[in-house]
Amino acid sequence: MTPFPQSFPATRLRRLRQAPWIRALTAEHVLTPADLVWSIVVHDGPEARIPVESMPGNDRLSVDEAARAASRASELGIPAIAIFPNISPTLKDETGSEALNPDGLVPRAIQAMKAAAPEVGVICDVALDPFTSHGHDGVIDDNGYVLNDATSELLVAQAVLQARSGADVVAPSDMMDGRIGAIREALEDEGFVNTMILSYAAKYASGFYGPYRDAIGSATALKGDKQTYQQSPANTDEALREVAMDIEEGADMVMVKPGLPYLDIVRRVSETFAIPTLAFQVSGEYAQIMAASERGWIDGERVMMETLMSFKRAGAAGIITYFAERAAEKLQ
Ligand code: PBG
Repeated sequence: MTPFPQSFPATRLRRLRQAPWIRALTAEHVLTPADLVWSIVVHDGPEARIPVESMPGNDRLSVDEAARAASRASELGIPAIAIFPNISPTLKDETGSEALNPDGLVPRAIQAMKAAAPEVGVICDVALDPFTSHGHDGVIDDNGYVLNDATSELLVAQAVLQARSGADVVAPSDMMDGRIGAIREALEDEGFVNTMILSYAAKYASGFYGPYRDAIGSATALKGDKQTYQQSPANTDEALREVAMDIEEGADMVMVKPGLPYLDIVRRVSETFAIPTLAFQVSGEYAQIMAASERGWIDGERVMMETLMSFKRAGAAGIITYFAERAAEKLQ
């Protein structure tokens, strides 16, 4: 296995671990704030912050607070923020039409963030689940099946609206087939030739999204699960096919999601394709660490940093995480 023989005591691997300076010098990977994308949830109410029970320390933010978060990201050297909306139940319907409202929460949040800190990238989730009364990422037929092409059409309109509102990156998280190509074509047609597409290319049907669905308020709404569009945890080859198609269709970056339980996918994708591969440390991963930490069972800060480093080790170009602010503060 080893490229050359290594025998004791000529080789004592502990020599290189004996002091901080030599550990630093020989570190194979480094984590910096520039590796982080800060995921935040925005809401439309008067409260500056609304706690989310299953995500301690990660509140829903008002538009004004989101703008402050953008300035904070800039101070901390966090390159980008990914925003997810909590939409009032009264605005939700079968087709998620609020997603196409030019004066909606997402367009206003983008504008406020770009006004506060234009140097910070804004990444927008393209999917209908925050907006639909049934909690699915697209429009459904009478049997509850999410319709691919009809959904794609709406996603295209949603992505164009986000680009028009000033989003730097549109990030489809819906897993419809063909939507990257359709969005790319529309962005080109509308003159948004520099709007980037970060495709949630390999997104798994996962139990780790639970706290997020609480945070955006789709948990109680969701009927059934998302297994007819998100990938099975049993598959890895399929992830490569998803990524290959999305690159072909015009994705600039791809994402693997969830993160830690899917580091093998991060590794395979980042090795196979010459394209920036991001990993999403999702809400359930965050909640696990926070819950165990609150009970005093683990050192939360230490585990936070360790998990973030593991993404780098697996080959991720960046990590989308609810810990971005805290991790960047620690890295200052
Ligand atoms: C859905 C979407 C989800 C997340 C981001 N976009 C959840 C889902 O697929 O149900 C999850 C994020 C997280 O858990 O942190 N379009």
